[in-house]
Amino acid sequence: MNYSNLNKAAQAAPPNLIRAFGEKINHIEGLLTFNLGEPDFPTPEIVKQATIQSIEQDQSFYAHSRGVMALREEVARYIQRKFNVSYDPASEILITIGSTEGLKTAVDLVTEPGDNILVVDPNYVIYNTQITLAQGNIIPIDVQDASFKLTPQAIHDKMAEIGEAKAIIFNYPTNPTGVSYSREELKALAEVFTEYDLYIISDEVYSVFNYGEEPHVSIAEFARERTLLINGASKAFAMTGWRTAFLAAPKPLIDVGFAVHQSMITAAPTQIQYGAIAAYRDLDEEVEAMRQSYLQRRNLMMDGLDNLGIQYIKPDGAFYIMIKVPEWFDGTDQDFCLQIAEEQKVALTPGSVFGEAGKQHVRISYASSEENLKILLQRLADFKTNYLKQEP
Ligand SMILES: Cc1ncc(COP(=O)(O)O)c(C=O)c1O
Repeated sequence: MNYSNLNKAAQAAPPNLIRAFGEKINHIEGLLTFNLGEPDFPTPEIVKQATIQSIEQDQSFYAHSRGVMALREEVARYIQRKFNVSYDPASEILITIGSTEGLKTAVDLVTEPGDNILVVDPNYVIYNTQITLAQGNIIPIDVQDASFKLTPQAIHDKMAEIGEAKAIIFNYPTNPTGVSYSREELKALAEVFTEYDLYIISDEVYSVFNYGEEPHVSIAEFARERTLLINGASKAFAMTGWRTAFLAAPKPLIDVGFAVHQSMITAAPTQIQYGAIAAYRDLDEEVEAMRQSYLQRRNLMMDGLDNLGIQYIKPDGAFYIMIKVPEWFDGTDQDFCLQIAEEQKVALTPGSVFGEAGKQHVRISYASSEENLKILLQRLADFKTNYLKQEP
């Protein structure tokens, strides 16, 4: 067999390029990693205890396919409390296996083959894979010249070029740049999304790690009827391995998405859902402490990079900072990351894996101890010194 008759979309779908680059350097011994999008805190105790209790109480049966009702109710309260938007737990919320599954469900439920789906370039890599699998066309909007932020004008320009589009996948605070949006900016974007009748797949998984003056605002506040809101526990509560998140949207969207979701997973793991109830309900203070800690580390990185004369995009949220490949380095962002991994044993991610607009940039995840971040800054300095010595 030559297997060439396998599903074309699946054959064309790119793998997770962040992980693919990680594979290239993983063999290096003693590598310090700044390439993972993962909190470095342990999962809070209260979540662990609620989960253990659920196991001990033999809550080991299939949950409702939409999710345990008590969790859906808690998620609805969480969304109301944090973003001031209401969803009906019975008909407008699905509990998903990570935001990744929520995104996949959202993309599948809106996309027909050939539909144009807008994405911001650079973006979190999984969107492109999911659009390809749904046989949509990926339409990147390059935001490099607008300080890496999506603007109404950029949407108008893109729509003038392509004619029509079905949806946009929008993520803020943004992976990989950390940029975010103010209430006014979101309102203006929501108006333009509405003008073009776009569904908004809004990936807000970093919403709690927001360093601006005002708290995170969900775009669902301005365009609820067309928004598929995705958020979850991975980043917010240091629960990446637990794989629990949610998709919230108006009933007609969830009615269609339900079959997609159910066909993939039947239901999310029951005991994890009982743990998640405690997370959404009881962790506001712990999350605030984590936010303060990331903020401090962000500031440490910005000061350190300023001292080294390395340019970066100022992050307003998440735990990433994108630096520019310095002019003294003669090579691509991939070359930079490979060379610094080999010589200085630090793992960073080349910006080009996040799209064309990420080229000549490098993403650093600062969800690492302050001690490690100081080592990273020193190694960046050493890399420069050694590199300039070797140059003819
Ligand atoms: C922007 C963004 N969305 C979604 C995810 C996936 O999160 P989850 O663990 O909830 O699937 C990530 C993980 O890195 C991310 O950065």
